[in-house]
This record gives sequence, C-alpha cells and structure tokens, in this order.
Amino acid sequence: MPQKFYIETLGCQMNVLDSELAASALNMMGMQQSNVPDDADVILFNTCSVRQHAEDKVYSALGRLKTWKTEKPFGILGVLGCMAQKDQKLVFQRAPHVDFVLGPGCLDVLAETISRLLAEKIRPSKTVCVSLNRTANAHPDVLDSFRQYNPERIVPAESDIPASLVRIMFGCNQFCSYCIVPFVRGPEQSRPPQDIINEVRHLAGQGTAKITLIGQTVNSYQYQEGERSVRLSDLLYRLSGITGIEQIDFVTMYPTGGRGKQHSPTGGGGQQHGPLGIDEDLLQAVRDLPNVLKHLHIPAQSGSDAVLKRMNRQYTAAFYRELVDRIYATIPGSTITSDFIVGFCGETDADFEQTVDLVKHCRFRNSFIFKYSERAGTKAAELYADDVPDEVKKFRHNRLLATQIEISRTNP
Ligand code: 5AD
Ligand code: SF4
Repeated sequence: MPQKFYIETLGCQMNVLDSELAASALNMMGMQQSNVPDDADVILFNTCSVRQHAEDKVYSALGRLKTWKTEKPFGILGVLGCMAQKDQKLVFQRAPHVDFVLGPGCLDVLAETISRLLAEKIRPSKTVCVSLNRTANAHPDVLDSFRQYNPERIVPAESDIPASLVRIMFGCNQFCSYCIVPFVRGPEQSRPPQDIINEVRHLAGQGTAKITLIGQTVNSYQYQEGERSVRLSDLLYRLSGITGIEQIDFVTMYPTGGRGKQHSPTGGGGQQHGPLGIDEDLLQAVRDLPNVLKHLHIPAQSGSDAVLKRMNRQYTAAFYRELVDRIYATIPGSTITSDFIVGFCGETDADFEQTVDLVKHCRFRNSFIFKYSERAGTKAAELYADDVPDEVKKFRHNRLLATQIEISRTNP
C-alpha cells in the first residue's frame, strides 16, 4: 500500500501553487494524496502569516491533530509556508507534536526531508529548514537561501477551462510597513523568461488552456537578457503565441514605479530596481493581445495620503485615481479589482471616508477588504500603535464592503 499524504493550504495563490508543487513532488516519490487527514501518514499545513487570524487557524488545527499523532506516532506532521519561515522553532513550542517546519524558500528539500523522516523510527530532534533572516544577513547569502523551486508538475484537474498558476517572480522588495511578506518570502527574484515559456508550453501540452502568472508585484518583473531588459509586457507577447493558451491573466500588481532603487529596511543591499510602474507598454499589451484578459488587480490599500504614507506605499490617492482613469481610457471594457486595509494605525474617520470615496471613484469590479492585523517584526508594529478599536475596524470593514457590493451590483 502506498503511503498517503494530506495537505491543507491557507493563504494566497503563491501557497496554492506551492502546495501543488509539493503534492507533485510527493506523488513522484510514490505517495498518494488523500482528501482527509485521518488516514494520512504525512500531514502538511501550508500556512499564511499575513494576518493573525490565519495563524490562529493553523495552531488550532494543529492542536486537533494531537490524537492523530498519538494514534500514529510514526506519522509525520509538517508546517510549510510563511509561518514556518516566520515562527521557526516557535511552532514546536506551541505544537510539540509537529515534526518539521520548512519555509517557502526551501521547498526543494521537502521530498528528501519526508523520505528521511519516514525512514527514521526514532526522531531525536525536530527538523527546521528555513531561509536566512533578511534583515540580519548579507543580501547575496539571503538570496541563496531563498531557493527557487519549479519542478515538473502534474496538471490540472478538470474544470471549464483547465487552468494553471505559473510563477514569474519570487519575493517582494516593497516593505509596506504592515506586511510580513518581504520577510518570509525573501528578496524579489524574477525567473528567466525562457524557463517560464518552457513551463507554459509544457502545461499547454498537458491540456492547460488558461494561465495565471503570479508574483507579489508582477509589474516589476524584469530579467536582463544580454543588453535587453525583459518586462512583463514582453513576457505577455511571448506567452500569448503559445498554441493552446486561450487565456492569460496575472496577479498581483503595485500601483507605481515609486522609489527606483530598493533597499532592505536595514539599508543593506537589495535589488537594483523597483517596480517600474504600470506603463503604457503593459496597458497596450493587455489591450492588444486577444488572449490576455482585460482585467487588472491593483491593491490600493487606502484612499488617504496620510495613511498611505504610514503604510510606506509609494503613491498618493490622486496618483492611484489617475492610474485607474488611464487604464479605463486605454483598455476599453477593462475591469479592475483592489485590496484595502481598514483600521490601519492612526486611521481617522476622515481618512476612512477618503477610502470610501476612492472606491466610489474607481468603480472596482470587486475589492478584498481586510481589517488591519499587527505583525510582529514589521515597521508598522515597531513604529505605530494599533490604535483603531476592533469594533471600529469591523464597522469600517462592513461599510466599505457595502459600498463595494453596491458598485459591483450596478457595474456592467
Ligand atoms: N493586516 C491586514 N491586511 C494585510 N494585508 C497584508 N498585510 C496585512 C496586515 N498586516 C492585505 C493587503 C494585501 C493583501 C494580500 O493582504 O491588503 O494586499
Ligand atoms: Fe506586502 Fe507590499 Fe510586498 Fe504586497 S507589495 S507583498 S503588500 S510588502
């Protein structure tokens, strides 16, 4: 009987893809995926650290697995993803029955870690595979420690249009003050275009008709091919010609070119370019390529300049409005979605009203609205008090959601 694994995924599409890759790696080892944890020999949680709520969910799920572990002492319980990188050994303090933690920059050693643990009948110590701390180590060493992982994978379950996620870049260099991602996903790294093209051809050969290109700030995709700098727009032109690919979309974007040179918060190194904005080349590519969906996801986060500044977002609300107007004018029939955080440190009623105004102006197809959740280790946690009461956060969340629902309902 082949051994079975169960994997539960929280968080964003990065994690969805990582779980698919992990499942493929375990299938290739001869293991079988199970839909329920109870009969699995290996249980994996692919975790998210963006908000406290997501972490709480994992710790309570881990708590519930104590009985499973007592009944199956040789079973393996592993924590993958952002919480593994962020909490590291802390995971074992809160859930001592976990066998290993493995961060998103170490997925390449998942299969060998599991084979080793399955073979060990005595496990004298816990296994920790994580990348280096971004603020405490030299940039090249940090980059090396966040290794890219793009093995062949088994493609898509049947759906209306077989779809696959394709990663075009890793990490983030933006350091929005509230966000843990640059710490747990590491420095921005763009994948070579030819690797992406080969992957998409391979996926198309297996039946994929829709691809979603993913990365934290895909509009900052940049890869130097000799003299030529390949950008997201170039990539779209190259990918749109691949036989069998009927639809292409991409998430997620950062609204502006902002700061040019990027640095880590300690000032120590960083990639030598920042996101180059959502430029005309990109908008024209989206407009002109028939198989590129006319839809952009561009998180605004707030409509108040004072809040945006404290969030370390590199634009003003007016800039964002103009961007949206320019997109609607350039790409007929285009739609835009956005993310917002309500109740960020120091957000007043007047700040919040500016966010409501921005949503009304932009007429988003949809908005994803989050209550601010303080993350230890971020600049916001260090510099500002989380001073908006939870009832106020809830009220603003509901109010913004109601505004958005009304817009979505009346949108063409
Ligand atoms: N609190 C609440 N929401 C957050 N996001 C990122 N960090 C936090 C946080 N600390 C939201 C942002 C981002 C989305 C993926 O999650 O809106 O765009
Ligand atoms: Fe986080 Fe900002 Fe990077 Fe998005 S752009 S992942 S919100 S730091």
